[in-house]
Amino acid sequence: MQNFENFLLNHLPTSKSIHPNYQEALQRMLLAGGKRFRPALLLGVVNAYNPLLVGGAHHAAYAIELLHTYSLIHDDLPAMDNSPLRRGEPTLHVLFDEVTAILAGDALNTYSFEVLSNAPFSDYTRVSLIRELATNGGLNGMVLGQAIDCYFENRPLGIEDVKVLHTNKTAKLIAASLKMGAIIVNQEELGEKLYDFGIKLGLLFQIQDDILDVTQSCETAGKLTNNDEAKNSFVTLLGLDKAMDEANELAQMLIKEMDSFDEKLKDELSPLLTQYINRHK
Ligand code: IPE
Ligand code: IPE
Ligand code: MG
Ligand code: MG
Ligand code: MG
Repeated sequence: MQNFENFLLNHLPTSKSIHPNYQEALQRMLLAGGKRFRPALLLGVVNAYNPLLVGGAHHAAYAIELLHTYSLIHDDLPAMDNSPLRRGEPTLHVLFDEVTAILAGDALNTYSFEVLSNAPFSDYTRVSLIRELATNGGLNGMVLGQAIDCYFENRPLGIEDVKVLHTNKTAKLIAASLKMGAIIVNQEELGEKLYDFGIKLGLLFQIQDDILDVTQSCETAGKLTNNDEAKNSFVTLLGLDKAMDEANELAQMLIKEMDSFDEKLKDELSPLLTQYINRHK
């Protein structure tokens, strides 16, 4: 992922103005790192089918990371999860102030689509990528999930509704990462198949994140843990042991499903996927 990090450094959001810390706020959480899971998924798909397109695909991988990073900045705000730590660093509303954090998030959200609009692909591919990111990251995707997540704090949901919540807030963006890779290599059918796989992978990713909230220290996680008691999650609704069982079952299913991937896709993605599919253990 070194090339991705270089691309990010070369395309950081910049804005020279009289504002003393606006530009730093825009860049800070991007530079703080993170696992870069979503970019790795997208680039993995492209590399499996057409390595020549990987350079251009960095625009799309970065666009997803920008939108994801905006979602984290807003997720940590006092009105949402009220967290002082993200990616091992103080959150923007702690470091600067709330309004700066809100606006930095807004700017990363729109910058994400600006970056995508400059991707070196046909108009058709570019519009398809923009549509995919907007559909999954926006009003009926991540934002809806966050709305449900926050509205239903201290109001326990049924497990099927929690799956809908997780699917929206987390899984759709992960599924879109895989599908956007398929769009770039012009493999429509594969895109649909990978999207379905990605929804299950994303559901697992959020169950794992909720497990890690109770099993990991803040230092290891780089973010505030033990912060989800009021949230609807597999852990709060079923308890840690049952949440672990559910995660294990989902992990098994995904590993089996990976077997039906083309050999080159399996070669490319299985090291990454195996690592993530097992990260709650
Ligand atoms: C955290 O995402 C938010 C969830 C959707 C669970 P990541 O765990 O991918 O966070 P970073 O990008 O590594 O910081
Ligand atoms: C957030 O889920 C999902 C997003 C869309 C950002 P969490 O609130 O559980 O994510 P963390 O644990 O703060 O990273
Ligand atoms: Mg949250
Ligand atoms: Mg949170
Ligand atoms: Mg969490």
